[in-house]
Amino acid sequence: MSTPPLLSVRDLTMTFPGRGSRSARVRAVDGVSFDIAQGETLGLVGESGCGKSTTGRMIVRLLEPTSGTVTYDGRDISRLSARALKPLRREIQMVFQDPHSSLNPRRTVSRIIADPLLVQGSSAAEARARAAELLELVGLLPEHLDRFPHEFSGGQAQRIGIARALATGPRLVVADEPVSALDVSVQAQIVNLMGRLQRELGLSYLFVAHDLSVVRRVCDRVAVMYLGRIVEIGPKERVYGAPAHPYTRALLSAVPLPDPAAERARERITLLGDPPSPAAPPPGCTFHPRCPKAQALCRTESPPLRRTAAGEAREVACHFPETG
Ligand SMILES: Nc1ncnc2c1ncn2[C@@H]1O[C@H](COP(=O)(O)OP(=O)(O)OP(=O)(O)O)[C@@H](O)[C@H]1O
Ligand code: SF4
Ligand SMILES: [Mg+2]
Repeated sequence: MSTPPLLSVRDLTMTFPGRGSRSARVRAVDGVSFDIAQGETLGLVGESGCGKSTTGRMIVRLLEPTSGTVTYDGRDISRLSARALKPLRREIQMVFQDPHSSLNPRRTVSRIIADPLLVQGSSAAEARARAAELLELVGLLPEHLDRFPHEFSGGQAQRIGIARALATGPRLVVADEPVSALDVSVQAQIVNLMGRLQRELGLSYLFVAHDLSVVRRVCDRVAVMYLGRIVEIGPKERVYGAPAHPYTRALLSAVPLPDPAAERARERITLLGDPPSPAAPPPGCTFHPRCPKAQALCRTESPPLRRTAAGEAREVACHFPETG
């Protein structure tokens, strides 16, 4: 029997009230389903506004889903009260994009890392000792404990954000664009750190990013979102090696290749216009106004997410997927 996934998300939907009195409601996430196994990293990619952060925030329950379920370790946590959630907060943690703005500037590093432990009932001495251990684990020094966030570079501050997330011993970490705000040279260090921590601690990650090269480095499987939905999901070798959805192909065609000859030869697909507003999604396949392969059927019928062949591990939501 195969091990059940650590996280299982089904038909997750989030509808926000429109901003302003007359504006339409925004379906930011629309029927998203995926699993994350113990020790696995699922990458979540897509253009700005497609619903990546909203998905992540529902999983850590910073947002309550409008509908759908989030099953963690066999238990539906999507409707638990704040009180029932408290023990689970230890197990599911989040790392944010901008390390400096996510760390309280008036608190020392010791307080920032130790606070979640104090909330969970540790003594002050225990929490401080654990904070020192965690700093070493993320490549900083115990003497950094009494400094303030502004005394650190972006990369160091993100290490502190990671130490804070690890303080309670989580099994699942939702990392929302954890390296997007950092210099490219520092991005690799943080990506490597997250990989090492995953191996040492057996962590599972949902790794949200708009940068496809970063996601390729870190993930085992990848999900591509467009306008609140997953349009392609599968093992990274399949999705990156032979993308089946026209949107995935377009995103990948915009990623520069390190080899100059391959870079000159690569196919570029330019998407027309910006993504439509999730407050007024187009009918049928919501990608059809920008899709180079759109046909009449695409304007009326929404394609379900499905396998393109028996034994294929990847699923795609397109009436006319690329096969191969
Ligand atoms: N609290 C809110 N109220 C109303 N609309 C919201 C709210 N939060 C997000 N949205 C809208 O929901 C959609 C999805 O937003 P979300 O932040 O999840 O996207 P994203 O994929 O994380 O984008 P980015 O790459 O820019 O971070 C957007 O249209 C956004 O404007
Ligand atoms: S269903 Fe049609 S419009 Fe949508 S991605 Fe596929 S070919 Fe393009
Ligand atoms: Mg976001």
